[in-house]
Amino acid sequence: MADFVPRDKKHAVVYQIYIRSFCDSNGDGIGDLPGITSKLDYLAKLGIDYLWITPFYPSPMRDNGYDISDYTAVDPTYGTMDDFDELVAEAKKRHIGIMLDMVLCHTSRDHPWFQKAIAGDKEYQQYYFLKDGCNSKGPGDPGEPPTNWKAAFGGSAWEWEPHIGKWYLHLHDVSQPDLNWDNSKIRKEVENVVLFWKKRGVAGFRFDVINFVSKPAKFVDDTEGAGRPLFADGPHIHEYLQELVSTTGIDGMLTVGEMASTTLDNCIKYSNPDNHELAETFSFHHLKVDYANGDKWALKEADIAKLRGILYTWQRGMQEGGGWNALFWDNHDQPRAVTRFGGRAGEGEPNSDWEHVGKMLATTSFFLEGTPYIYEGDELGMTNAHYAKIDQYNDVESLNFYQILLKKGETEDEALHVLSERSRDNGRTPMQWSDGHAAGFTTGKPWLASPANYTSINAEAEVDKPGSIFEYYRNLVHLRHELEVLATGKVTCYEPGDEAPKVLLFERQIGDIRVVVTTSFDQKPCTVDASKLNVGELEPLVFNYKEAPQIQGDGTIALKPYEACAWITKGALNK
Ligand code: GLC
Ligand code: CA
Repeated sequence: MADFVPRDKKHAVVYQIYIRSFCDSNGDGIGDLPGITSKLDYLAKLGIDYLWITPFYPSPMRDNGYDISDYTAVDPTYGTMDDFDELVAEAKKRHIGIMLDMVLCHTSRDHPWFQKAIAGDKEYQQYYFLKDGCNSKGPGDPGEPPTNWKAAFGGSAWEWEPHIGKWYLHLHDVSQPDLNWDNSKIRKEVENVVLFWKKRGVAGFRFDVINFVSKPAKFVDDTEGAGRPLFADGPHIHEYLQELVSTTGIDGMLTVGEMASTTLDNCIKYSNPDNHELAETFSFHHLKVDYANGDKWALKEADIAKLRGILYTWQRGMQEGGGWNALFWDNHDQPRAVTRFGGRAGEGEPNSDWEHVGKMLATTSFFLEGTPYIYEGDELGMTNAHYAKIDQYNDVESLNFYQILLKKGETEDEALHVLSERSRDNGRTPMQWSDGHAAGFTTGKPWLASPANYTSINAEAEVDKPGSIFEYYRNLVHLRHELEVLATGKVTCYEPGDEAPKVLLFERQIGDIRVVVTTSFDQKPCTVDASKLNVGELEPLVFNYKEAPQIQGDGTIALKPYEACAWITKGALNK
């Protein structure tokens, strides 16, 4: 078969698969590569262009595969290399490119490099950050950790390694020692990993916490408190990325970096094609608007004015600076946005809000500038897990923070409530294929339980059903492919007026074609001031209630709860 060229980043839609939860082909309760291959027709029907698959490499699975012990093999839990090759080939037949997750900031402790390092091999000790403690009384005495840096999953970012009498750095779990990219040997190793998979026919890469790989020249205490950690967007990050991209020849492929605690200026540099770094970036500021005092584990109602401000700043800034956003609400590290932004009404989903919220969120991300990402189950309106007991959870971060919350004096019920809102497992429940056993995900016992609503929220109930969230997404994917204005049109963001405090209002425009979009995150009706936008001269393109909202004579638009609508220049669809 002649090689197909997947769509470019401006016209493409990416679908993210959390392999453990997508489809289990052999009844062991864990999703796998042949499971993904068996669902390619479903994905082709949705119309997506790329599949980003989360790590399936050998791993002790402390962090479900983000702790890698061999970069160039397949973990038997997930299948074989032949299964992988078959997936790539079958996806190609359906014009879908495979994107792989590259976890190159750290390895697992089980990786042979780390094992050799702690066995005393000097060369491999240079692969990691091994340091003496502070205030140590001499060899063998740990003293205190070298700096006050905190690990993402709780506690100090340093662990004492008695075999060699040094502390090692781990910015995530204690089982994930950070690699020393300042050592050119590491950069060569990483290059070989990327080349290995590129040669097997992948179409793109997602780079895990890649903006943490360049550490500060001097390791000093972080004094910024809850602010940006010292190791985000470090001193050589752009240089290292440029080097990796040029030595592997991945420039122009669909590459996306996960940029934790990043800045707009850095993301412009990462994603402006002139810099030859990445195609696009994930940033997370818009998903922290419901963190009280910036603390993920302290609940607060989502601040939609803040959300709007952040999205507008990034839309304007990336456009002006020639950067490119990855647009998303959900991934395997986030609770489900439908639940998160859907208000607290009607916990027993589905209810009417649930469906409107799902479509409203999709409308927002598909009409903004950037590449839209669909996380598995978004297209069905999948919700949080609604677990009631701690033993239903699996995620290392959730289990760590449960203990931390208890130590802080929260009751078990309080801590469980926080987890039910914030745990990453909310986004990791099995894909809901049907109302059958285990939501049709496995014939065995699923590794993680489904929320009870799988009996009504599932693919079988939604595919080909007019008006379903799935069909709504399918239409949006189609519009992304067909309408140049959505791909390359200029974006202009507007304030929606005092009567619409929880609404987004923006316009896309190319030549004489305009698209105006408004999406409401409000549980209550509201009135948007679109008087500057002449929406009356356009025609409705997509909307999430039975009919598009009416435009009043004065240019205001009355919106129902969670209503969304996009209007387009009359006749533009046929141009
Ligand atoms: C990224 C991944 C997350 C993982 C972490 C450590 O944030 O998305 O799942 O736990 O990196 O690798
Ligand atoms: Ca399996």
